[in-house]
Amino acid sequence: MAPEIKYTKLFINNEWVDAKSGKTFETYTPHDGSTIAKVAEGDKADIDLAVAAAKAAFARNSEWRLMDASQRGRILTKFADLVSRDRAYLSQLETYNNGLVAGFSTMLMDMAISNIRYLASLADKIQGDTIPTDGDSFTYTLKQPVGVCGLILPWNGPIAIFVNKVCTALAAGCTAVVKPAEQTPLTALALAALLAEAGVPKGVVNVVNGYGETAGAALTHHPDVAKISFTGSVEVGKLIQQAAGANNLKRVTLELGGKSPLIIMDDADLNLAVPYAANSVFCHQGQVCVAASRLFVQAGIYDKFVEAAAKYAQGIKIGNPADPTTQHGPQVDDVMFKKVLAYIEKGKQEGAVLKAGGKRVGNSGYYIEPTVFANVKDDMTIAKEEIFGPVQSIFKFDTLEEAIERANNTSYGLAAGIFTSNLNNALQFSKHVEAGIIWVNTYLAMGPHAPFGGFKDSGLGRENGMKSIDAYLEVKTVTISLPKKF
Ligand code: NAI
Ligand code: MG
Repeated sequence: MAPEIKYTKLFINNEWVDAKSGKTFETYTPHDGSTIAKVAEGDKADIDLAVAAAKAAFARNSEWRLMDASQRGRILTKFADLVSRDRAYLSQLETYNNGLVAGFSTMLMDMAISNIRYLASLADKIQGDTIPTDGDSFTYTLKQPVGVCGLILPWNGPIAIFVNKVCTALAAGCTAVVKPAEQTPLTALALAALLAEAGVPKGVVNVVNGYGETAGAALTHHPDVAKISFTGSVEVGKLIQQAAGANNLKRVTLELGGKSPLIIMDDADLNLAVPYAANSVFCHQGQVCVAASRLFVQAGIYDKFVEAAAKYAQGIKIGNPADPTTQHGPQVDDVMFKKVLAYIEKGKQEGAVLKAGGKRVGNSGYYIEPTVFANVKDDMTIAKEEIFGPVQSIFKFDTLEEAIERANNTSYGLAAGIFTSNLNNALQFSKHVEAGIIWVNTYLAMGPHAPFGGFKDSGLGRENGMKSIDAYLEVKTVTISLPKKF
């Protein structure tokens, strides 16, 4: 049964409002492409209202600015309790609008709840330093919220990424305008309602749905926005960095794409490596920024591995994402569906050997079989571009030195992994590979506690971990005259 759609308007100043233009856009379920709801379509005029609300909420003596940091933490904890209360509903709504399979969706809900609790706990632990400056003075630092934050979300993890960006901003004492992805506008609205129920004062968090080129661009150009945090494509990440310097100087955090390498050494435990390699790229139909889309397998086990990988992919259960036993659901929309199928065609044309999948499933919705290509060469299109779909490309290599060299031969640098039973291999790889997140004998292991972000074109700054909050703070240095001799 389809989950109830409770909210479709814009959320500004803790009120539900229509777009100024009166426009709406349709949102779909990727299971069969049918319309779920019409959602208010915000543009520059609505962004202006939302930013004004967030600016007023951030004014010097506002309720939010005067609130004890511990109280901000308690509000976030209450928010975690409410998300927990509505866990089943939110998870179903995410599955319905996004195609995230139910089993994974509930797991991500639990991760989101832990993330909120972790960030809630940081709210009253923002501390400066006392510094023994030279001469007759004494210095301390204050860490203060940067101001109004524009938080631009992608469609691949709408709840997880909303929670992460919004709660980091709130723990820091900032206010926010959220622009969800146009493909998945619904769960952000449901979460906004829970923030208000938890006691977040009006104007502190506003949600404006709409398109990237209109609403998103207006947010990134707005002179009253102090910071942008964005997750999405490299292409738009670069536009955002330009926009951020166009009038005022916005702080920017970018979490972008990847073409992450996973190395399987001859000495790896194949009972572990085969399923991990598959899950690393097929998880959420390949729509994961850290997807292991370049799988390098050492020559000694290559043929055996390819056969096992093909067999594994063929055994993955495809179906309606709402069915809790489904392992593989649809791509998010028609655009991504066509884009992924075009990459598969390109792979075949350029000479990669198709070992599994490669076709659409059924004739409604956006389902694509888990696909395995062997004999992939580094200069093929599928070896270079982020596919963001269920396509495993397997490369052959001889030495670890060669694998590191080839792994680094990309403008991306998000994640990387290695399966090996040799400690030296693991440590040398971890040291020399150019990526922000390295996994050894595991993959996709993540949580709120450890930094997450990319080298090179995969991003700017880090999210998660205690220091993630620094990206939402300014450091103020205060020096006071204090004679040494008393
Ligand atoms: P996108 O980067 O265009 O969209 C992400 C967000 O940015 C959406 O909210 C969108 O409305 C907004 N946006 C788009 N243009 C904007 C602009 N000019 N100014 C401000 N905001 C703007 O990503 P899209 O088109 O959905 O996917 C394209 C490719 O990006 C995918 O095939 C995939 O390779 C990659 N991608 C990576 C993600 C990640 O997790 N790192 C998430 C989503 C997509
Ligand atoms: Mg785009």
